[in-house]
Amino acid sequence: MSRTHPLRILSSNPDPPRAGVAPALSSPPPQSAPRTLRDSHGRTIRDLRLSITDRCNFRCVYCMEPDVRFFPREQLLSVDELERLASLARSLGVERLRLTGGEPTLRPELDEIIERLGALHFDDLSMTTNGSLIEPSRLRLWKASGLTRLTFSLDSAREETFAAMTRSRSSAAAVLRAVREAHDAGLGPIKVNAVVIRDRNEDQVPLLASLAARHNFEMRFIEFMPLDSGHAWNPALLVPAEEILHLLQTAGRLTPLQRDRPSDTAELYRFTPSQDQLSARIGVIAPVTRSFCGRCSRLRITADGKVRPCLFSLREFDVRALLRSGADNATIEQFLIDSTWTKQPGHGITSPDFEQPARPMSAIGG
Ligand code: 5AD
Ligand code: SF4
Repeated sequence: MSRTHPLRILSSNPDPPRAGVAPALSSPPPQSAPRTLRDSHGRTIRDLRLSITDRCNFRCVYCMEPDVRFFPREQLLSVDELERLASLARSLGVERLRLTGGEPTLRPELDEIIERLGALHFDDLSMTTNGSLIEPSRLRLWKASGLTRLTFSLDSAREETFAAMTRSRSSAAAVLRAVREAHDAGLGPIKVNAVVIRDRNEDQVPLLASLAARHNFEMRFIEFMPLDSGHAWNPALLVPAEEILHLLQTAGRLTPLQRDRPSDTAELYRFTPSQDQLSARIGVIAPVTRSFCGRCSRLRITADGKVRPCLFSLREFDVRALLRSGADNATIEQFLIDSTWTKQPGHGITSPDFEQPARPMSAIGG
């Protein structure tokens, strides 16, 4: 097995290397058979999030500032490169693939990407979208190509708050329409994410949960994380999981459910709004106050071809350079194995020396 790349092709990291951090691979991963993506803290990677564009037509306050600059086209992984990486990840034991952005529907070759990645037969091939640019005919095409389900973002059902949070010309009504159409096209169970931010949309929590019951989707409330390009995050803007749960309890009955998989980020509940027969699954995702890093099974590859073992990685690994250098499959696999091995134990958001990564969520892939 060649070990000629040894993560020397570290990206021109936008972040300075952190003092005191051992160089990558001071203790390389032991070889295993079958080869899998494991880290040095005992976690195995089964979920890959592949970002296919950093562009977005929204400017959500928790993600992207209005004046954000996007990668030039030639820096994005090509469809061939995306397919090759996905296929190698599959052979290394990745079971679930999620396409993310930015907004994936802005990638002109999206239909082809879904078709080619669908042919790799992951157990689950999902995509995250803001839902503003979706036509029903494409939903059916994606389903036929092997897309299993969609996750949407909807931070508010109140149009004024929606507009203020997304800084877009779209509407909550348009997103809800797309959710319904995705459901009809067989792309369920549909999940809908809301990032909850103090004094912006916590009043929307009960309303969104009731909508989920009526429209048959799973609503997930996410704690605001320091991944916004404006670096406006501060603890005062965080609405902790405990408070989100309290808001729900004032509006209905909440009973805990088992997680589908131990590595799932969401704590699950069944919510039945007061005076209602219908109920919904509700997920509460609390990366800050109830960190789930110890159970993480995710790896991310950015649209410009950088492997990020953690959302909060300060180091990233340039697999695009390796792909474009003519490396063979075994070398690229080993690069993925070695990058994964460096995955940090956790994000440390609450630690005093926490450092926010230079990349916002839109350039990482949610
Ligand atoms: N904090 C928490 N979640 C975020 N997302 C984007 N930025 C943040 C942030 N700073 C989530 C949104 C979106 C998904 C792509 O990532 O829920 O749906
Ligand atoms: Fe776009 Fe998603 Fe970022 Fe909002 S969170 S600006 S929809 S990439």
